[in-house]
Amino acid sequence: MKAYHIKLSEKDIGGVKTALLPGDPMRVEKIASLAGKNNFKKLTSNREFFSALCTVQNIPILVISTGIGCPSLAIAVEELAHLGIENFIRVGTTGAIQPGILPGDLIVSTAAVRLDGTSGHYAPMSYPAVASYDIVNALVRSAKKFKIRHHIGVTVTSDTFYPGQERYDTFTGHIIRDYRGSMEEWKKLKVLNYEMESSALFVMASVFGLKSGTVCGVIVNRSENEKPDDSFIEKVEKETGTVALEAATKLK
Ligand code: URA
Repeated sequence: MKAYHIKLSEKDIGGVKTALLPGDPMRVEKIASLAGKNNFKKLTSNREFFSALCTVQNIPILVISTGIGCPSLAIAVEELAHLGIENFIRVGTTGAIQPGILPGDLIVSTAAVRLDGTSGHYAPMSYPAVASYDIVNALVRSAKKFKIRHHIGVTVTSDTFYPGQERYDTFTGHIIRDYRGSMEEWKKLKVLNYEMESSALFVMASVFGLKSGTVCGVIVNRSENEKPDDSFIEKVEKETGTVALEAATKLK
């Protein structure tokens, strides 16, 4: 039977254990095709969930998009867990907040601040959103292998791109008090970056007894710029996908 939203069955993915999870459906084929022209095939597409299967070093890896944000990611992770996926690697883009983190660098998250609503449906707020040691380790080794500058640490996962990440170009220009000054606060607390999915992924994988991790390519440093340079995004996507695929081959 096909899963409700992702429209995949166990037969479609045939015992694959590891899934790479970009947010953007358009990145699925780009990432899977890094395995080589004859080593990937497109599977299904429904709503924000596009999927492809690829093989790297004889290891099958599923690539499936989750859409933006924790609610749709949670749907994908639920359905993938039912199909037997044990390792989940989010492959994303991010806005860095610490000085010295440059566009093009990678961030491997060890944990995520839970500025989301979804993870609270799985565990109380006192439960930590932490990545799995094995996946963090595999991602860091892979970044080192490809000699890509990377940073390891805590990420903020926000439900919103605008107020939760303290962007003042909201429609009204107003941000509620809770988030005014929040970027400076996270900086002081040594948080590395903002993104929108990892906290739900980490909590869900932990409570399911499965493994997860995140690698994100930096497209902007918020201390210096508000808007990314689009010409940079392609390079960042490719390097992030390459690092994630290599890491996926090292997991049990
Ligand atoms: N993704 C985010 O959530 N924030 C950014 O600044 C860039 C990418």
